Amino acid sequence: MKKVKLNLNKKISLSYDICIGYNVIDQVGLIIAENHKASHYVLITDSNVSRLYGGVVLGIFQNLGLNTTLIEFQAGETSKNIQTVLSVVGQMLKLGVDRDAILIALGGGVAGDLVGFIASVYMRSVPYIQIPTTLMAQVDSSIGGKTAVDLPDGKNLLGAFHQPKAVFVDLKFLETLPNTEFNNGLAEIIKYGIIDNLKFFETLEQKADAIKKQDRDVLSAVVEHSCRFKKKIVEIDEKDRGIRRILNFGHTVGHAVEAASGYTISHGNAVAIGMAAAVRMSGKLCGFSIGERERIWRLIDVFGLPRYLSLTIRTDEIVERLKMDKKKEGDKINFVLLKRIGMPFVNSEVPEAIIRETIEEIKR
Ligand code: NAD
Ligand code: GLY
Repeated sequence: MKKVKLNLNKKISLSYDICIGYNVIDQVGLIIAENHKASHYVLITDSNVSRLYGGVVLGIFQNLGLNTTLIEFQAGETSKNIQTVLSVVGQMLKLGVDRDAILIALGGGVAGDLVGFIASVYMRSVPYIQIPTTLMAQVDSSIGGKTAVDLPDGKNLLGAFHQPKAVFVDLKFLETLPNTEFNNGLAEIIKYGIIDNLKFFETLEQKADAIKKQDRDVLSAVVEHSCRFKKKIVEIDEKDRGIRRILNFGHTVGHAVEAASGYTISHGNAVAIGMAAAVRMSGKLCGFSIGERERIWRLIDVFGLPRYLSLTIRTDEIVERLKMDKKKEGDKINFVLLKRIGMPFVNSEVPEAIIRETIEEIKR
């Protein structure tokens, strides 16, 4: 397995490895048994992942003699809420799970965010490990310690920073991922291409076919690059006070779209729509070139992601959601805009008229 170390300099105890490999889940069990000792391992996963991998992973842990219990919740973003937290925590209490336990998030970003959040508050916090099984989670949500659940008012409004003890990325999991879910992960990879540098963006353009066909070497290199980029940003700004905000490119409008759709639009699709909107705003406000705009739109199209929003979603609803976004400061909503590909910056002065005009333009 390739090892990418995420160093949180002032807090060595919070540093951890992101291990990336293919068909490595047996090895993952061994590493956990050796390096992350606990009296109880609580494997928490969603209903789909449980059906596909719950028994296998539980078996690996139990065969290693580890005291392991599997807890399952209903798959989907609509489970990323406080009711699911209470249900999982209730089961953990019945099992007698104490602070010597380690929680293991097996699944996509929903499982990762939810389990991370439970770990941050359960008995004033317990350690957890991420085993991401979607592309979205492997390149983004499992890294960096942002944990949260959604509230009726909006996405991720209840959460904490709580770093995992380790992240294990096994690309084999992706083989059972539906195409639409794979594409969702591609949205975050396009995001990295846009905010990192033109070279990575060009790689995505050139290798688009191989990526879509899940060519193992190409995909593995793209996943590793994405993990390295994200970990570099988290190392500089763990708590999202500065540069980490560029990782929210496409997410300001994206989160509003996701919530306004009642989570019928997936996170990745919403981010793609949000990136298309951010590119339009960048053209209006900071001279972002038409040429680069067209390249970004083409890549979003090639990766099978949407750029437009249904006319049935009201502009007012999106604007209201934006005003509730946790990325806002006072009355100011933070948007990540672009001067060029590879040159993102945070703009908190986007006039409401431009926001409304842009949302109207992305509706069809
Ligand atoms: P998800 O966890 O809902 O997974 C998508 C679907 O794929 C689910 O139905 C799941 O059951 C299924 N699935 C998972 N692994 C599978 C596999 N290997 N084979 C077949 N099916 C599988 O959604 P997601 O797209 O992984 O994550 C989205 C969530 O992540 C959102 O809540 C978003 O807010 C969050 N997120 C968090 C961060 C962060 O930094 N914490 C970053 C990005 C996204
Ligand atoms: N996904 C955005 C972040 O981790 O900061």
